[in-house]
This record gives sequence, C-alpha cells and structure tokens, in this order.
Amino acid sequence: MKDTPPSVDAQTPYKAMAAEYAVGLVQPGMRVGLGSGSTALFALRRIGELLHGGGLHDIMGFATSQATRLEAQRLGIPLMYDDLPAGIDMTIDGADEVDPALNVIKGGGGALLREKIVAQASRREVIIVDETKWSPRLGTRHVLPMEVVQYGWRSQARFLESLGARIVVRDSQDGVPFVTDSGNMILDGDFGPIEDVHALADRLNRRAGIVEHGLFVDLVTDVIVAGKAGVRHLKRQG
Ligand code: A5P
Repeated sequence: MKDTPPSVDAQTPYKAMAAEYAVGLVQPGMRVGLGSGSTALFALRRIGELLHGGGLHDIMGFATSQATRLEAQRLGIPLMYDDLPAGIDMTIDGADEVDPALNVIKGGGGALLREKIVAQASRREVIIVDETKWSPRLGTRHVLPMEVVQYGWRSQARFLESLGARIVVRDSQDGVPFVTDSGNMILDGDFGPIEDVHALADRLNRRAGIVEHGLFVDLVTDVIVAGKAGVRHLKRQG
C-alpha cells in the first residue's frame, strides 16, 4: 500500500512535535491505544518508525477507528484484535479543542465513540495538539460532534436545538450523510462557549438515541501542546 503523506498546513510541524513527545512516554511492554485523526497519525508513524529501528519493542496497539487499524497494520504495529481483552496502559489521541481543565472536544473525524471507549479503558489518556486547539472555554473554537442512531434522529436534532445548539448533519465528502464505524450518523452542534461542560455532558448522556458525544470530561490525564514556543506537557491535577 502507498505511504500517503499526512496533509500539510502551518500546524503540521507542531502536530509532529507533540506526537513525538508523547511517543517518548511509551515504554516496552505497554498496551497502547492508537488515536485517530491527522495528529494521531504522526504518533502512529513515529511508533512504527521506532519499532522498525529498534528504539521500541514489545508493545501492542489497540485502534480507535478502522482507518487507524488499517494504517497500523500497514506500519507493522502489532495489534490486539480481541475486543479489549485487557486494559490499556496509555492512549495517544488528538483533539479538536482543549480547555485549561484538560477537558476536550473530540470527534472532528467522526471516531468519538470508539475513542471514548478506548479512553475509558486507559490508565492514561494523552492528548496531543498544536496550540490552535487551546481554548479558554470548550465550544468557542469547535462544534460539538454527537454520534446518534439513524432511527428517529430528527427527534435528537430537535432535542439538541431545545438545548440551544445549532445543528448540522455531518456529510461525507460525496454529500451523503457520514456514517461512523459503528453505523451511526454525526450531528455537529454549535452550542457556542459551553458554560458547564459537566451539566451538558449529563444531559446528553441521559438522552436515548445519542450514542455518544464529543465532550471528554475528567478523562484526559495529560495534554501535550506544541507551538512556536516549543512543547508543553500539562498533567491533570489530583
Ligand atoms: C477523530 O474523531 C477526532 O477525535 C480527532 O482526534 C480530532 O478530530 C483531532 O483531529 P486532528 O488531529 O486531525 O485535528
């Protein structure tokens, strides 16, 4: 299979820096959750590089999406195929927005359900971002992706609008609704800056038909932010 270079933009070097730093935290013997998206792809490729160069050995990966699983296979990263037979030592994943409490919005690539399943099974959830993802309050810079079952989805859209969100149905590139790895659709909700992420997460958790939402609250242990000034490693307190 062809080695497709990651798409390049002004943030590309910083994504790579954050990924390289995070992969430096991986130790031989670890079970590693493999994230999805353009930043996580740098981590995946760095792990592959180290495994082949002898800089890392004896790790097992667990992919958070089909796309990541295929790329990990292509890179020769050993994978756990059973359905999470054991806990994950550390997951390295990207995010769309990060706040000072290290809560994040994820799901810009549509993989939030599997990403959250893996995050909740991980002892350490390490988020890697370039500095444009940093935000004083979630919802300021990115919409909130929500994975909903197709059955009755308009009812979920109305419910979300009643909470104050402007809703857009996520399309795939060919203009048909995007379908997740688990066969659901994604509604992107513009809530504006979210006053209380815990309260909103609770409301969404209670609603039948919303399979999962992109608020990762109290789940992230580490955030690696890279930018012009270098790399910062932030750790959850307590
Ligand atoms: C995938 O569904 C997402 O949660 C990604 O982790 C997130 O969108 C960040 O992606 P990028 O690293 O491509 O910005």
